[in-house]
Amino acid sequence: MKRIKGSIKEGAVFLKNAMANPKEVAYVFPSSPWLVNKVAKVAKLDKAKRIIELGPGTGGTTRAILKQMSPDAALVSVEINAKFIEHMNKTIDDKRLTISDKGAQNLPEIITDQGWEDVDVIISGIPFSTLPKGLDLAIMDGIHETLKPEGMFLAYQLRDHVSKLAEPLFGPYTFKMVEYKNLPPMRIYTWEKK
Ligand SMILES: C[S@@+](CC[C@H](N)C(=O)[O-])C[C@H]1O[C@@H](n2cnc3c(N)ncnc32)[C@H](O)[C@@H]1O
Repeated sequence: MKRIKGSIKEGAVFLKNAMANPKEVAYVFPSSPWLVNKVAKVAKLDKAKRIIELGPGTGGTTRAILKQMSPDAALVSVEINAKFIEHMNKTIDDKRLTISDKGAQNLPEIITDQGWEDVDVIISGIPFSTLPKGLDLAIMDGIHETLKPEGMFLAYQLRDHVSKLAEPLFGPYTFKMVEYKNLPPMRIYTWEKK
């Protein structure tokens, strides 16, 4: 009962902020358990030590990532919506997690704040197709710059726009699927940095 009440509250926080910021949030429901679990599994997090999440929203994806991470790994979730950050701070208590409000376009600075030189895995739910032109490219440049060689970039997206941004830097994707059980169905892509 407590869990059901929690997810209703989480859905309401998400919907309210999606209506207020449609281009940043892009859809009206948080990702389903099927999608968040698939994302965390495809990211192969068992050996990753430094993980970045872009656009955690109300934290469903964050919880799935934390569940798959090893006890000595660290996760930085980067979110610009203050209400989502407030919700995550109230509902997730895990010493491996740091939340940054600096915006995904500041990835090099965010990893320097952590004392990291590079990142093993970057997982992004940021809606690249609805961001202002230029900001999408700046975020993708930062992703490519901060990933270690052979590091993985994973994006779960409604549209294919992310491929056009990622391919000039990473080459063709290494994996693609669609999670139809999510509403709306969501594409999951991965790229490996050469
Ligand atoms: C599509 S929602 C995904 C939310 C959540 N991960 C899920 O799957 O339910 C996109 C999220 O990206 C965040 N976002 C948009 N632009 C951003 C930016 N420049 N930096 C960090 N987060 C951003 C939005 O505030 C929103 O929380």
